[in-house]
Parts: sequence; C-alpha cells; structure tokens
Amino acid sequence: MPLTRRTLIAVSLSLTFAFTPTIVFAASPTPAKGEHGMVVTAQHLATEVGVDVLKKGGNAVDAAVAVGYALAVVYPNAGNIGGGGFMTVRMKDGRTTFLDFRERAPLAATKTMYLDKDGKPIKGASLDGYLAVGVPGSVAGFEMAREKFGTLPRQELMAPAIAYAKDGFVLNQGDAASFAGGAERLAKDPAAAAIFLKKDGKPYGIGEKLVQPDLAASLSAISDKGPDAFYNGAIADEIVKASGAKGGILAKPDFEQYAVRELKPVTCSYRGYEIISSPPPSSGGVIICEILNVLEGYPLSYLGAGSAETVHVMVEAMRHAYVDRNSALGDPDFVDNPVSRLLDKAYAKDIRDKIDPFRAGVSKELMPKGFGESKETTHYSIIDKDGNAVAVTYTLNGSFGAGVVADGTGILLNNEMDDFTQKPGVPNLYGLVQGEANAIQPKKTPLSSMSPTIVTKDGKPFMVIGSPGGSRIITITLEVIVNVIDHGMDIQQAIDAPRIHHQWLPDTVYVEPFGLSPDTEKLLAGMGYHLDLSDQIWGQAAGILVGGKSLAQIEKGGGARYNGAIDSRAAAGEALGY
Ligand code: DON
Repeated sequence: MPLTRRTLIAVSLSLTFAFTPTIVFAASPTPAKGEHGMVVTAQHLATEVGVDVLKKGGNAVDAAVAVGYALAVVYPNAGNIGGGGFMTVRMKDGRTTFLDFRERAPLAATKTMYLDKDGKPIKGASLDGYLAVGVPGSVAGFEMAREKFGTLPRQELMAPAIAYAKDGFVLNQGDAASFAGGAERLAKDPAAAAIFLKKDGKPYGIGEKLVQPDLAASLSAISDKGPDAFYNGAIADEIVKASGAKGGILAKPDFEQYAVRELKPVTCSYRGYEIISSPPPSSGGVIICEILNVLEGYPLSYLGAGSAETVHVMVEAMRHAYVDRNSALGDPDFVDNPVSRLLDKAYAKDIRDKIDPFRAGVSKELMPKGFGESKETTHYSIIDKDGNAVAVTYTLNGSFGAGVVADGTGILLNNEMDDFTQKPGVPNLYGLVQGEANAIQPKKTPLSSMSPTIVTKDGKPFMVIGSPGGSRIITITLEVIVNVIDHGMDIQQAIDAPRIHHQWLPDTVYVEPFGLSPDTEKLLAGMGYHLDLSDQIWGQAAGILVGGKSLAQIEKGGGARYNGAIDSRAAAGEALGY
C-alpha cells in the first residue's frame, strides 16, 4: 500500500508540515464486482450487451465489437459508426496491439480549408456540417478487431444493436439529458431532426422510446455484407451524395481507400507498473507516459491527494508535456514523432530540473520555435474470464458530431476535422493551441488525445482505463492511475475524485468545482497560479481494477477478481460484472 500522508498522520499525530494537508475523501459507491468478466460503458444497455456476449462464451474483443455497435444505437451523441477511434488490446498470453480506426482527412482536404481569404478561421466551418467530416473508421476497425482477435460471427455480435435500432429503446434520465443537450444543433439538419426529435421538434424525454429504422437497415447491411456495405456500397454513396449537395468534400475514393492501421502501443513503466496506451496519431499514451515519468521523481503518496504540492508538480508536468503534445506530435505517416526522446526518463529529469519547487511556471516562456501565437466521445473497458483486456475510446468529436445524417443512412457523422491545426496558434474546440505537425493534409489523421489504456503489474492485467473529455482525456486517465497507485483510492473513488487540468495554453489550472479546498486554492494562487473553477466538461471515465477494489485490498487478498467503476459523472452508464 502506498505510504500516504494519511497513513503517516495515523502513525504520528504530532507530524506537521509546512503546507497543511488537504485530504481528499473521495466518497463513492462500491465498485461493481465480477469473477468471470466485467464490462464498463457509458450506457447501461450497451454494458448489458457486452456482458451477454461474455456469458455466451465470447471473449473481450467480441464484447468490445458488440458494445461498439450497441453504443452507436443507444448512445448516439458519442457512440458511432460515422466516426472513429482506438482500441488497445492485451490478450491473455501477453500479446498487445493497438487498432487505429480514427478518421482520415478527405483527399480533397487542404491546409487552409477552414480559413477565409484573409487567412482568418471561418467560424463553425470545422465543426458544423459536411465540411467538418473526416472519413469514418469505426466499421472497418470493429471488423478488423473481430477478425484478428474475436471468436464469434459478426451477425451474432451486431444482432443486439440491430434489435435496439429496429424495436427502439426507452430513454432514462441520462439518455434524455444528452438528447436535450443536442436538440438545437440536430434541428438544423432535417435528416437528423427526423430521427432524434419528435414531430413537435422537441427531444425525446424520460420514458419515451427512440426507434431508428434507417440505422437498423444500415447495420443489417453491414452485418450481412461486412464493411463493404459501408465503404463500397450504398452507405458511402448516400454520404458522398449528401456531402456534395451540402458543401462537403467527401468523395467515393475516400471511403474506398480507408484502411485501419495496426500499431504498436506506447509503453512505459511507472513505479513498477507497465502502462500500455495509445501511440500517435494519438498524443494520449506518449503524454500520459511523459507526465508519469516526471511525477515518478516526486513522493506523491506522501504529498497527498489534492495538496498544493501535489497539484503544483502535476500541473508543471502537464504544462511541459502539453507543449510537446501541441507542437511535436502528429499522424505517424506524415510526421516523424520524437516518441523515444519524449519517453526517455532522462528527459523527465530535465523537466523536473526546470520546475521551481515554490513557484508556478510560465507557459509563454516554453513557446517552441516557429510556433505562432460539450462535446462527446465515449470510452469503455472490458475484461473476460481468461484475462483478455480491451480498452476502446471512440468518438464523433463534438456532441452528435457534425450534427448531420445523410438521408436514409441513420448514421450521425463526425466533426473530427476540428482536431487538426486550422492555423498555428488558433485554439480548437478544446482550447488546444497546436502547430504544423498537426496541419491538415489529404488522408492524414488529426492528432487525438484519446487514451485507451491497460496497466499491468508483473505481467498480469492490473487496470483497464480511459475516458472522453477532449484535451482532458490525457489528464483524466493519468489522474485515475495516480489516484490508485499513489493515493491508494479504490477504482471508483479514483474515477470520481475531483480533477485538475493544465494544457500549457491557456496558462490556467482548471479545477473541478469543489475540487480543492479554499486553503489549497490560496496556496496555489500564492505560488503564481491562475485557477479556473467554472463548471466544465470533466469526462466520464470507465475503469476496471483486477484483484481487488484498491491496492490495499489487492495486497490483503480476498477482494473480487474484477472491480468495475463507471464515472459518477456518467448519468446513463453502468459497470457490470458476472
Ligand atoms: O480525439 C480527440 O482527442 C477528440 N476528438 C476527443 C473528443 C472528446 O473527447 C469529446 N468528449 N468529451
């Protein structure tokens, strides 16, 4: 068990320290328990679909494919087949892989496609409508996962999703809230409005049923014919037709040429644990590892969760790592990513040497050379009876993506193009200020923050974790890992605990409301930090811990084999074991 400040206080009540400790009591429900498998997703019906697959003898990859399609029906604000994502896999024999089925820029995309004639960004152009759409990858990704690692036929895995689309599903409070949030945007596209809004133009409410016959037909075609039905058939034709008619640039060859990339995950060690996470075109794994490498040099357990000292070193590590994220990383087919340099423990030491123990750093002093001055994604974590573990994060980018559906397809399309640098120095939807490495080019994939992550200890799965949250995905995932390993929280507490975030620019520490005590806020302000405590989007993590609900329980023995936790911020989600 980590030697936390709380443990020390218990042994020696007389111990005092220069900074009064602020102990975070992350009160949370007990994690879900399972002995044979665990599925954690942001929508309870999708979770049940995954558990049913495991019970029928499917493995974690089978369950991940079935859940991916189910979420496209029951969680349409983020779950998608009109978008893309990443899957990190660790099989029971220790094999690991990473499937990149993220969107690619259309062949007709250009570096300046979102700028007006004066070189200024055109408001909304990379976010709303067909010009914002990247070539979707989810269908190809799920099929590759199933073919390489799955055991069950596609038809069996897609049947629950098709049934929910055809027969409908009844909305609970969490579902209804997400539809209400998207109503205004969806009203602008007649095909989207016809599906997601009632005849009176209002969103579906609690207890009402959403039926999606067009989506059922598209899914049935994919189930029968495979990805060809999407990329080479009527679905692509309809999307290309709608795109052409409504200001987009998608063309048939974009779909015909789409290919999933199988990549080697990024790995690093942290205090004896191995982190297996997303490589470029995600920044997630590299930046999580870079931050962890820096933090490894500080006694976080002793400094305590939520203390000013802990927040200080975490923010400084984040500040330095996000400079690298935003300036150096991009699609590996186009950019030479300096991954090994960024993951070098010596580089982490260089960063630590630059951190003033008493003062906040200054972001503009870290400006790289040549650098100009709600939202939805979803993550799910699955583990099966054999210990095969799968972490998937996929997205339409913004909530309900570009807010458009091509007639007859029932498929919401993404607005992933906004993740590119439109112009160096101009912030995107998540306030990220990025550089040339992430500039738009035909067939290039925009840099992502999605971080589906598996942590192992002594060659065995220890944690499966990830989250939505735009640029905060990285720090959310990192904080859950640190909360479990350094602060001794159980997996649910670690996920629910209040969060902080810094991304280099703007030079602001974002703090979840009530995340820090007023004393801690004052200490940080005194060190020179600017804090923003306004209510923002803090993601909805989904995690599994193996062998107990916390490190203490794992060490003591007697905990459940699988312990699942869906973020208390995820109103419709569920962790379910069996
Ligand atoms: O790939 C990325 O980094 C973003 N498109 C993720 C968007 C996201 O997490 C939105 N959800 N809250």
